[in-house]
Amino acid sequence: VLAAAAEALRTHIRDIHDFPQPGVVFKDITPLLATPAAFSTVVGALSDTAEQLGATVVAGIEARGFLLAAPVADRIGAGIVPIRKQGKLPGRTVAESYALEYGTATLEIHDDAVGPGDRVLIVDDVLATGGTAAAASNLLRHGGAEVLGLAVLMELTFLAGRDRIPSLAVTALLEI
Ligand code: PRP
Repeated sequence: VLAAAAEALRTHIRDIHDFPQPGVVFKDITPLLATPAAFSTVVGALSDTAEQLGATVVAGIEARGFLLAAPVADRIGAGIVPIRKQGKLPGRTVAESYALEYGTATLEIHDDAVGPGDRVLIVDDVLATGGTAAAASNLLRHGGAEVLGLAVLMELTFLAGRDRIPSLAVTALLEI
């Protein structure tokens, strides 16, 4: 399953040069999303990880994480919790800011989204510097949940994002 998922990613993810800014190579997952067999393979691999860890909740990170977390949650019979950019969630929220290369970003979660007894897997498309995953993990733990791990399609290993989330089990279907 893992080898098939890695192959699906190698075949259906394209590099977009100089997006969102000059010098950056953006990993575009839209061809993967548009190819049913490849998408299903990848969702299956993420779902296997969620099941092996015993996740009862899947947390999806805006924006591309939502597209992956939702089918995974449905497959394993879990609920999904969205972790969003600032100002998007309608209810009472808890926020966590983290450093970007230039400036800061803020993620939010509803303050009643998770609680003690919830076993959460965070799902996203890419692990880069790990700032996003670290902030998401802090938000979930603040709510009392047990954060089991992070599952992503791709890990940009040269950015050493894992070092920022040492307490999380990281599953990356493809290392770049
Ligand atoms: C990208 C990606 C991850 C995050 C990883 O999202 O989807 O969520 O960056 O980077 P990090 O490990 O360095 O924190 P982005 O912030 O571009 O937001 P978007 O999905 O809303 O475009």
